[in-house]
Amino acid sequence: MMKTRFTEAFGVEHPIIQGGMQWVGRAELVSAVANAGALGCLTALTQPTPEDLSKEIGRVRDMTDKPFAVNFTILPTLKPIPYDEYMDAIVQSGVKIVETAGNNPKAHMPKLKEAGIKVIHKCTSVRHAITAQKIGVDAISIDGFECAGHPGEDDTPGLILIPKAADKIDIPIIASGGFADGRGLAAAIALGADGINMGTRFMATQEAPVHETIKQKIVSADELQTTLIFRTLRNTTRMFSNEVSKKIIEMEAEGKGIDEIGPIASGLKGKLVYETGDENAGVWSAGMCIGLINDIPTVKELVERIVNDAETIINERFRRIVA
Ligand SMILES: Cc1cc2nc3c(=O)[nH]c(=O)nc-3n(C[C@H](O)[C@H](O)[C@H](O)COP(=O)(O)O)c2cc1C
Repeated sequence: MMKTRFTEAFGVEHPIIQGGMQWVGRAELVSAVANAGALGCLTALTQPTPEDLSKEIGRVRDMTDKPFAVNFTILPTLKPIPYDEYMDAIVQSGVKIVETAGNNPKAHMPKLKEAGIKVIHKCTSVRHAITAQKIGVDAISIDGFECAGHPGEDDTPGLILIPKAADKIDIPIIASGGFADGRGLAAAIALGADGINMGTRFMATQEAPVHETIKQKIVSADELQTTLIFRTLRNTTRMFSNEVSKKIIEMEAEGKGIDEIGPIASGLKGKLVYETGDENAGVWSAGMCIGLINDIPTVKELVERIVNDAETIINERFRRIVA
């Protein structure tokens, strides 16, 4: 049993978060993570409308009575998103934890705080973490360059970001990006974090709503099979390296803009990857820790294994070394 500032403040058993994942962070996965004693994040924008989000929150509640969170991602999109309506659905549903990401959540903080919601803000630089702490978030999730999704534009890996954030931030810190096993959790704690956030590792679990072929692809892939798209648009995104991500990088090199690249990179095509198992149906996020994933356990098996392995490393390896 590991007790940290995060487990204490957020009322979860284990210092592990399943970060928001577009198309993947649905009720089945989130409730499995909650039932395993970790914190699952339902991804708000996976739901086509705020009403659908309210229903999905209800589905999580049908499957668990443990705490869970909703991820609220504020990013530039091709189609305008009714963010305020999604936020109202979250607040009215009585959810008690929100993970914000993509941009400064300042505009939404009054509503969140008034509703007594605890906010975990995920960001990719220490300066943004300091700003988020100032505006009153309750924890920082600091996402290193290794991560799936949006690593930002600074290219700073977790080995630097995590201890630096620990030096500058007083609230609980979650280390994110590149974590897949108990060694990572023990290392994150050693670097000053209060827990870890994982995306890619949770995709390869029994309960993740991801086609079996893609889960097998994750197991067989190594750490060299991710790539960065949208660098030229200053909206860098780490994706699985497939035919579509390679095509996008070629188009970027030719100077093409979002008007031409957008339709190829559409999120709806990415959704097809998880539904059909065709890895080249669109772009899909994966982090460098894909090289550490060798099996498809249940969420409960995964969470228990990570916590047990981290405890063993701390109790045995760390102790043996200093004795
Ligand atoms: C398939 C997938 C989709 C993701 N979608 C989102 C998202 O919509 N919003 C968000 O804040 N983060 C998103 N992320 C990032 C994760 O929440 C997390 O920060 C990241 O995966 C951590 O890096 P890791 O994959 O190395 O564990 C996504 C990650 C994956 C793998």
